[in-house]
Amino acid sequence: MSIQRIAVVGGGFMGGGIAQCAAQGGYDVTLVDLKQEALDKALADMRDSLGRLCGKGIVKEPAEAVLARISTSTELEAVAGVDAVIEAVFERIPVKQDVLGKIDALLPAGGLIASNTSTIPITMLAGFTSRPESFVGMHFFSPVPVNPLLEIIPGAATSPDALAQAEELGVRFGKRNFVVKKDVPGFIMNRVFGAMTCEAMRLVESGVGTVEDVDGGMTTGYGMTLGPLAIADLAGLDVCLMAFGNIAELDPDGPIQPPEILKQRVAAGKFGRKSGEGFWKYDARGKATGPAV
Ligand SMILES: NC(=O)c1ccc[n+]([C@@H]2O[C@H](COP(=O)([O-])OP(=O)(O)OC[C@H]3O[C@@H](n4cnc5c(N)ncnc54)[C@H](O)[C@@H]3O)[C@@H](O)[C@H]2O)c1
Repeated sequence: MSIQRIAVVGGGFMGGGIAQCAAQGGYDVTLVDLKQEALDKALADMRDSLGRLCGKGIVKEPAEAVLARISTSTELEAVAGVDAVIEAVFERIPVKQDVLGKIDALLPAGGLIASNTSTIPITMLAGFTSRPESFVGMHFFSPVPVNPLLEIIPGAATSPDALAQAEELGVRFGKRNFVVKKDVPGFIMNRVFGAMTCEAMRLVESGVGTVEDVDGGMTTGYGMTLGPLAIADLAGLDVCLMAFGNIAELDPDGPIQPPEILKQRVAAGKFGRKSGEGFWKYDARGKATGPAV
Protein backbone atom coordinates (compact mmCIF):
# COMPACT_ATOMS: atom_id res chain seq x y z
CA MET A 1 0.00 0.00 0.00
CA SER A 2 1.33 3.43 -0.88
CA ILE A 3 1.43 5.76 2.11
CA GLN A 4 0.07 9.27 1.59
CA ARG A 5 -1.48 10.30 4.91
CA ILE A 6 0.34 9.92 8.21
CA ALA A 7 -0.65 10.52 11.83
CA VAL A 8 1.94 11.16 14.52
CA VAL A 9 0.54 10.33 17.96
CA GLY A 10 2.26 12.24 20.78
CA GLY A 11 3.05 15.85 19.95
CA GLY A 12 5.88 16.46 22.43
CA PHE A 13 9.59 17.06 21.91
CA MET A 14 9.95 14.28 19.31
CA GLY A 15 6.47 14.04 17.76
CA GLY A 16 6.45 17.63 16.49
CA GLY A 17 9.80 17.17 14.77
CA ILE A 18 8.66 13.88 13.20
CA ALA A 19 5.47 15.53 11.89
CA GLN A 20 7.56 18.36 10.43
CA CYS A 21 9.88 15.93 8.60
CA ALA A 22 6.86 14.03 7.26
CA ALA A 23 5.34 17.26 5.90
CA GLN A 24 8.70 18.27 4.41
CA GLY A 25 8.66 14.88 2.68
CA GLY A 26 5.34 15.77 1.01
CA TYR A 27 3.00 13.74 3.24
CA ASP A 28 -0.27 15.03 4.69
CA VAL A 29 0.20 14.77 8.44
CA THR A 30 -2.08 14.91 11.46
CA LEU A 31 -0.35 15.47 14.79
CA VAL A 32 -2.37 14.06 17.70
CA ASP A 33 -1.87 14.82 21.39
CA LEU A 34 -4.11 14.67 24.43
CA LYS A 35 -3.17 18.26 25.24
CA GLN A 36 -3.95 21.29 23.06
CA GLU A 37 -0.98 23.14 24.68
CA ALA A 38 1.40 20.46 23.37
CA LEU A 39 -0.02 20.87 19.85
CA ASP A 40 0.23 24.68 20.03
CA LYS A 41 3.86 24.46 21.16
CA ALA A 42 4.67 21.89 18.47
CA LEU A 43 3.24 24.17 15.76
CA ALA A 44 5.17 27.19 17.09
CA ASP A 45 8.41 25.13 17.18
CA MET A 46 7.80 23.87 13.62
CA ARG A 47 7.25 27.43 12.41
CA ASP A 48 10.57 28.52 14.01
CA SER A 49 12.45 25.52 12.67
CA LEU A 50 11.04 25.87 9.15
CA GLY A 51 11.89 29.57 9.19
CA ARG A 52 15.54 28.66 9.80
CA LEU A 53 15.63 25.71 7.35
CA CYS A 54 13.94 27.71 4.57
CA GLY A 55 16.21 30.71 5.27
CA LYS A 56 19.29 28.49 4.76
CA GLY A 57 17.80 26.95 1.62
CA ILE A 58 17.77 23.46 3.18
CA VAL A 59 13.98 23.29 2.73
CA LYS A 60 13.23 24.50 -0.80
CA GLU A 61 9.47 25.11 -0.40
CA PRO A 62 8.06 28.12 1.48
CA ALA A 63 7.42 27.32 5.17
CA GLU A 64 3.69 28.01 4.70
CA ALA A 65 3.44 25.32 2.00
CA VAL A 66 4.94 22.73 4.38
CA LEU A 67 2.77 23.89 7.30
CA ALA A 68 -0.34 23.67 5.09
CA ARG A 69 0.12 19.87 5.00
CA ILE A 70 -0.03 19.63 8.83
CA SER A 71 -3.23 19.44 10.85
CA THR A 72 -3.65 18.75 14.56
CA SER A 73 -6.17 16.93 16.72
CA THR A 74 -6.74 16.10 20.38
CA GLU A 75 -8.81 13.08 19.30
CA LEU A 76 -7.15 9.74 18.61
CA GLU A 77 -10.01 9.01 16.19
CA ALA A 78 -8.05 11.11 13.67
CA VAL A 79 -5.92 8.00 12.94
CA ALA A 80 -8.97 6.34 11.33
CA GLY A 81 -8.32 8.32 8.12
CA VAL A 82 -4.59 7.70 7.59
CA ASP A 83 -2.32 5.05 6.01
CA ALA A 84 0.40 4.99 8.69
CA VAL A 85 0.80 6.03 12.32
CA ILE A 86 4.03 6.94 14.07
CA GLU A 87 3.63 6.68 17.84
CA ALA A 88 5.71 9.04 20.03
CA VAL A 89 4.01 9.09 23.45
CA PHE A 90 5.76 8.71 26.83
CA GLU A 91 8.41 5.99 27.14
CA ARG A 92 6.38 3.86 29.57
CA ILE A 93 5.23 0.36 28.63
CA PRO A 94 1.66 0.65 30.07
CA VAL A 95 1.12 4.02 28.32
CA LYS A 96 2.35 2.61 25.00
CA GLN A 97 0.27 -0.56 25.48
CA ASP A 98 -2.88 1.48 25.97
CA VAL A 99 -2.36 3.88 23.09
CA LEU A 100 -1.13 1.22 20.62
CA GLY A 101 -4.20 -0.95 21.35
CA LYS A 102 -6.45 2.03 20.58
CA ILE A 103 -4.54 2.95 17.41
CA ASP A 104 -4.77 -0.67 16.22
CA ALA A 105 -8.54 -0.64 16.69
CA LEU A 106 -8.98 2.63 14.75
CA LEU A 107 -6.42 2.34 11.92
CA PRO A 108 -7.72 0.67 8.73
CA ALA A 109 -6.53 -2.89 8.01
CA GLY A 110 -3.14 -2.91 6.29
CA GLY A 111 -2.12 0.41 7.86
CA LEU A 112 1.46 0.62 9.14
CA ILE A 113 2.17 1.31 12.83
CA ALA A 114 5.65 2.55 13.77
CA SER A 115 6.91 3.34 17.26
CA ASN A 116 9.57 5.93 18.08
CA THR A 117 10.45 4.08 21.29
CA SER A 118 14.08 4.54 22.27
CA THR A 119 14.42 1.43 24.43
CA ILE A 120 11.46 -0.98 24.35
CA PRO A 121 11.76 -4.06 22.10
CA ILE A 122 9.57 -3.77 18.99
CA THR A 123 8.36 -7.38 19.26
CA MET A 124 6.91 -6.55 22.70
CA LEU A 125 5.14 -3.40 21.41
CA ALA A 126 3.89 -5.21 18.29
CA GLY A 127 2.27 -7.76 20.62
CA PHE A 128 -0.02 -5.00 21.93
CA THR A 129 -1.65 -4.88 18.46
CA SER A 130 -3.41 -7.40 16.23
CA ARG A 131 -1.04 -6.61 13.32
CA PRO A 132 2.55 -7.46 14.34
CA GLU A 133 3.38 -7.95 10.63
CA SER A 134 2.57 -4.26 10.00
CA PHE A 135 4.49 -2.99 13.05
CA VAL A 136 8.03 -1.58 12.98
CA GLY A 137 10.37 0.59 15.05
CA MET A 138 11.36 4.00 13.68
CA HIS A 139 13.74 5.57 16.19
CA PHE A 140 14.44 9.24 15.42
CA PHE A 141 17.11 11.36 17.10
CA SER A 142 16.85 14.90 18.40
CA PRO A 143 16.62 17.56 17.18
CA VAL A 144 14.53 15.61 14.65
CA PRO A 145 14.31 18.29 11.91
CA VAL A 146 18.12 18.51 11.63
CA ASN A 147 19.44 15.15 12.90
CA PRO A 148 19.71 12.78 9.91
CA LEU A 149 19.98 9.55 11.93
CA LEU A 150 17.09 7.05 11.84
CA GLU A 151 17.22 3.54 13.31
CA ILE A 152 14.66 1.21 11.76
CA ILE A 153 13.95 -1.89 13.81
CA PRO A 154 11.94 -4.84 12.50
CA GLY A 155 10.24 -6.95 15.17
CA ALA A 156 10.10 -10.75 15.01
CA ALA A 157 6.95 -10.68 12.83
CA THR A 158 7.52 -7.48 10.79
CA SER A 159 6.86 -8.25 7.11
CA PRO A 160 9.34 -7.33 4.36
CA ASP A 161 6.64 -4.96 2.98
CA ALA A 162 6.31 -3.11 6.29
CA LEU A 163 10.09 -2.81 6.58
CA ALA A 164 10.27 -1.46 3.02
CA GLN A 165 7.52 1.07 3.81
CA ALA A 166 9.44 2.29 6.87
CA GLU A 167 12.63 2.61 4.82
CA GLU A 168 10.79 4.62 2.18
CA LEU A 169 9.35 6.92 4.85
CA GLY A 170 12.86 7.44 6.24
CA VAL A 171 14.22 8.40 2.82
CA ARG A 172 11.31 10.78 2.09
CA PHE A 173 11.76 12.32 5.58
CA GLY A 174 15.38 13.11 4.58
CA LYS A 175 16.95 10.62 6.99
CA ARG A 176 19.85 8.20 6.74
CA ASN A 177 18.40 4.80 7.61
CA PHE A 178 20.22 2.22 9.74
CA VAL A 179 18.32 -1.07 9.88
CA VAL A 180 18.94 -2.92 13.16
CA LYS A 181 19.42 -6.66 12.65
CA LYS A 182 18.25 -7.87 16.09
CA ASP A 183 15.48 -6.45 18.28
CA VAL A 184 17.25 -5.84 21.62
CA PRO A 185 16.36 -3.25 24.33
CA GLY A 186 17.93 0.10 23.33
CA PHE A 187 18.74 -1.15 19.78
CA ILE A 188 22.21 0.00 18.60
CA MET A 189 22.69 3.71 19.22
CA ASN A 190 21.27 3.97 22.74
CA ARG A 191 23.23 0.90 23.82
CA VAL A 192 26.52 2.41 22.62
CA PHE A 193 25.65 5.85 24.01
CA GLY A 194 24.25 4.38 27.26
CA ALA A 195 27.27 2.17 27.98
CA MET A 196 29.69 5.07 27.34
CA THR A 197 27.66 7.60 29.29
CA CYS A 198 27.02 5.38 32.33
CA GLU A 199 30.78 4.73 32.49
CA ALA A 200 31.56 8.47 32.08
CA MET A 201 29.23 9.22 35.01
CA ARG A 202 30.72 6.44 37.17
CA LEU A 203 34.24 7.79 36.52
CA VAL A 204 33.17 11.23 37.77
CA GLU A 205 31.26 9.67 40.69
CA SER A 206 34.30 7.68 41.84
CA GLY A 207 36.68 10.63 41.43
CA VAL A 208 38.79 9.10 38.65
CA GLY A 209 38.25 12.22 36.52
CA THR A 210 36.38 15.53 36.62
CA VAL A 211 33.55 16.48 34.29
CA GLU A 212 36.08 18.58 32.35
CA ASP A 213 38.54 15.66 32.15
CA VAL A 214 35.96 13.20 30.82
CA ASP A 215 34.21 15.47 28.30
CA GLY A 216 37.40 17.37 27.40
CA GLY A 217 39.29 14.14 26.71
CA MET A 218 36.53 12.68 24.58
CA THR A 219 36.15 15.83 22.46
CA THR A 220 39.92 16.24 22.12
CA GLY A 221 40.77 12.69 21.20
CA TYR A 222 37.70 11.00 19.78
CA GLY A 223 36.37 13.55 17.30
CA MET A 224 33.22 14.21 19.32
CA THR A 225 31.78 17.74 19.18
CA LEU A 226 30.27 17.27 22.65
CA GLY A 227 31.44 14.93 25.41
CA PRO A 228 29.13 12.20 26.75
CA LEU A 229 28.15 14.19 29.86
CA ALA A 230 27.27 17.26 27.79
CA ILE A 231 25.22 15.08 25.42
CA ALA A 232 23.37 13.61 28.42
CA ASP A 233 22.70 17.15 29.69
CA LEU A 234 21.34 18.09 26.26
CA ALA A 235 19.05 15.02 26.02
CA GLY A 236 17.88 15.60 29.62
CA LEU A 237 19.18 13.63 32.61
CA ASP A 238 15.59 12.61 33.47
CA VAL A 239 15.18 11.23 29.93
CA CYS A 240 18.55 9.41 30.22
CA LEU A 241 17.62 7.93 33.60
CA MET A 242 14.36 6.60 32.23
CA ALA A 243 16.01 5.21 29.09
CA PHE A 244 18.93 3.59 30.95
CA GLY A 245 16.52 2.28 33.62
CA ASN A 246 14.29 0.70 30.98
CA ILE A 247 17.25 -0.99 29.28
CA ALA A 248 18.60 -2.21 32.64
CA GLU A 249 15.23 -3.66 33.60
CA LEU A 250 14.91 -5.53 30.29
CA ASP A 251 18.61 -6.51 30.22
CA PRO A 252 19.66 -6.79 33.89
CA ASP A 253 23.12 -8.26 33.15
CA GLY A 254 23.97 -5.73 30.43
CA PRO A 255 26.49 -2.87 30.66
CA ILE A 256 23.87 -0.15 31.05
CA GLN A 257 22.97 0.35 34.71
CA PRO A 258 22.00 3.90 35.81
CA PRO A 259 24.73 5.20 38.17
CA GLU A 260 23.86 6.66 41.59
CA ILE A 261 25.15 10.10 40.57
CA LEU A 262 22.59 10.21 37.73
CA LYS A 263 19.75 9.26 40.09
CA GLN A 264 20.88 11.95 42.56
CA ARG A 265 21.10 14.69 39.90
CA VAL A 266 17.56 13.88 38.71
CA ALA A 267 16.18 13.67 42.28
CA ALA A 268 17.66 17.14 42.91
CA GLY A 269 15.89 18.56 39.82
CA LYS A 270 19.18 18.92 37.91
CA PHE A 271 17.89 17.76 34.54
CA GLY A 272 20.67 19.21 32.38
CA ARG A 273 20.50 22.08 29.92
CA LYS A 274 16.71 22.51 30.17
CA SER A 275 16.87 23.15 33.95
CA GLY A 276 20.09 25.22 33.82
CA GLU A 277 22.25 22.54 35.47
CA GLY A 278 23.16 18.88 35.03
CA PHE A 279 26.78 17.75 34.91
CA TRP A 280 27.50 21.23 33.51
CA LYS A 281 25.98 24.63 34.40
CA TYR A 282 24.22 26.64 31.68
CA ASP A 283 23.38 30.31 31.16
CA ALA A 284 19.95 31.51 30.04
CA ARG A 285 20.90 30.92 26.39
CA GLY A 286 21.87 27.31 27.07
CA LYS A 287 25.64 27.86 26.85
CA ALA A 288 27.76 25.79 29.26
CA THR A 289 29.48 28.07 31.80
CA GLY A 290 31.38 25.46 33.86
CA PRO A 291 31.13 22.11 35.59
CA ALA A 292 28.29 21.57 38.07
CA VAL A 293 29.75 18.48 39.78
N1 LIG B 1 13.60 12.92 23.97
C1 LIG B 1 14.45 12.31 23.14
O1 LIG B 1 15.58 12.77 22.93
C2 LIG B 1 14.00 11.06 22.40
C3 LIG B 1 14.81 10.56 21.37
C4 LIG B 1 14.39 9.43 20.65
C5 LIG B 1 13.19 8.82 20.98
N2 LIG B 1 12.43 9.32 22.01
C6 LIG B 1 11.17 8.64 22.29
O2 LIG B 1 10.09 9.40 21.76
C7 LIG B 1 8.93 9.19 22.57
C8 LIG B 1 8.40 10.54 23.01
O3 LIG B 1 9.42 11.21 23.73
P1 LIG B 1 9.39 12.80 23.90
O4 LIG B 1 10.73 13.18 24.41
O5 LIG B 1 8.82 13.44 22.70
O6 LIG B 1 8.31 12.93 25.10
P2 LIG B 1 7.43 14.18 25.50
O7 LIG B 1 7.09 13.99 26.94
O8 LIG B 1 8.05 15.47 25.07
O9 LIG B 1 6.09 14.00 24.61
C9 LIG B 1 5.17 12.95 24.77
C10 LIG B 1 3.81 13.48 24.37
O10 LIG B 1 2.90 12.39 24.31
C11 LIG B 1 1.62 12.88 24.70
N3 LIG B 1 0.78 11.76 25.06
C12 LIG B 1 0.90 10.94 26.13
N4 LIG B 1 -0.07 9.98 26.08
C13 LIG B 1 -0.79 10.21 24.94
C14 LIG B 1 -1.92 9.59 24.34
N5 LIG B 1 -2.50 8.53 24.91
N6 LIG B 1 -2.39 10.10 23.18
C15 LIG B 1 -1.81 11.19 22.61
N7 LIG B 1 -0.75 11.83 23.14
C16 LIG B 1 -0.26 11.34 24.30
C17 LIG B 1 1.93 13.82 25.84
O11 LIG B 1 0.86 14.74 26.10
C18 LIG B 1 3.21 14.50 25.36
O12 LIG B 1 2.94 15.73 24.69
C19 LIG B 1 9.35 8.26 23.70
O13 LIG B 1 9.06 6.94 23.36
C20 LIG B 1 10.85 8.49 23.77
O14 LIG B 1 11.57 7.41 24.32
C21 LIG B 1 12.79 10.43 22.71
